[in-house]
Amino acid sequence: MSGITAAERDAMARARVLALQGPRSTNPQVGAVILAADGRTLAEGFHRGTGSPHAEVDALSQLAPDEAAGATAIVTLEPCNHTGRTGPCAIALIDAGIARVVYGASDPGDESSHGATRLREAGVEIDRLDVPEADALIADWLFVQRTGRPRVTIKWAQSLDGRAAAADGTSRWITGPEARAHVHRERSAHDAIAVGTGTVLADDPRLTARIDGVEHPPQPVPVVFGERAIPDEAAVRNHPRGHRTAGHDLERELAALAASGLQSLYVEGGPTLASAFIRAGLADRLTVYIAPTLLGGPRTAIDAIGVGTIDEQRRLTVTRLEQLGRDLLVEATTEGEH
Ligand SMILES: NC(=O)c1ccc[n+]([C@@H]2O[C@H](COP(=O)([O-])OP(=O)(O)OC[C@H]3O[C@@H](n4cnc5c(N)ncnc54)[C@H](OP(=O)(O)O)[C@@H]3O)[C@@H](O)[C@H]2O)c1
Repeated sequence: MSGITAAERDAMARARVLALQGPRSTNPQVGAVILAADGRTLAEGFHRGTGSPHAEVDALSQLAPDEAAGATAIVTLEPCNHTGRTGPCAIALIDAGIARVVYGASDPGDESSHGATRLREAGVEIDRLDVPEADALIADWLFVQRTGRPRVTIKWAQSLDGRAAAADGTSRWITGPEARAHVHRERSAHDAIAVGTGTVLADDPRLTARIDGVEHPPQPVPVVFGERAIPDEAAVRNHPRGHRTAGHDLERELAALAASGLQSLYVEGGPTLASAFIRAGLADRLTVYIAPTLLGGPRTAIDAIGVGTIDEQRRLTVTRLEQLGRDLLVEATTEGEH
C-alpha cells in the first residue's frame, strides 16, 4: 500500500474515467492504464461489454511486443483469473512482462477471483489502492452477482398526508420543480425505469431523463409492467431506448432484466406496482418526495404491502434527508428489515 506513487494515483483516477466509457452490461465496467517505469502513460484501455476484451487486455493490445516489459498496470478491478469468453487477464499481464499491478476494487467472484494471488506467485509486484470510487464503480454489478437481480429503488411523491393523487386520480404535479429535477437525475443514474400500465394509462409519461425539458443522457430503458396493452399513441413508445414490457412475476422479470445487463431499476410507480415490489421484498432503497400539501381521500401512496399487524411492519434506515425547494426528500434503505 505504502509504495503507491502520485503517478499511479493519477492513473487510477484516469482508469475510472476510462471504465465509465464502457457500457453497463452483464460484466463490470473496468478501466486500465499502463505506465512506463518513469510514470509515462504507455496505453489505456477499458472493457466494452460482455464478450469483448477486458480492460487490461484492451490496453496491452495497443503496445508492441515487449513494450510492456517492466511496466506497471493500473486497473480499477483486480485482474481476473478465469477463462471465460476471454482468457485470464492475470496471464495476459504475466505474458506481457508487466512488473507491477496496482488495482482498485477486489474481485470477490468465485471463479474469477485470486488474480492478485496468481500474479504474485508469478513474481509480479501487487499493490491495492483502496479508493471508494473503484468500489462504487462495481457496486451494482456486485449486487447482481449476489442476488441475480438489479438493485431496486422505489420512488414516489406524496402529500404530507401520504396521498399519491387526488380523489379523482389527478396527480400532476404534487411536488415542485426542484424535486422533479432531482427525479430526472435519478432516472439518469439508473439502467432501467419501471411503471405499471395504470400510470401509462393515467399519466402517459415519457420516462426520459431531462434537464430543463431537454433529454439528457444516459437514458434509462423504460419497462412497463402489466398485462394491459400500451396505447399506440403512448409517449413511452417514442423513448430513445425503445421500451420493454413485463408481466406480474416480479422476480422472474427482474432476473430477465439482469440477464440483459440492466443492473439498477428505478420504479416510479404508481401505488399498485410500488406496493407489489415492497410486498415481495424487492425494494432495496426508497426515495420519497413529500410535498407540503394535503390531498386526503383514498389514493394512498402505498397500499397493501403484506403488513397485517404491527409485528410485521417494514423497518427502514433513513440514509438521507434533504429539502428540495418547498419539498422534502427522504431516502431510506430496507437494510435491517426483518
Ligand atoms: N405520486 C406518484 O409518485 C405517482 C407515480 C406514478 C403514478 N401515480 C399515480 O398513480 C395512479 C395510477 O396508479 P396505479 O396503481 O393504477 O398504477 P401502476 O402501479 O402504475 O399500475 C398498476 C398496474 O401494474 C400492473 N402490474 C404489473 N405487475 C404487477 C404486480 N406484480 N402486482 C400488481 N400490479 C402489477 C397491473 O397492470 P395490469 O392490470 O395491466 O396487469 C396493475 O393494474 C395515477 O393516478 C398516477 O397519476 C403517482
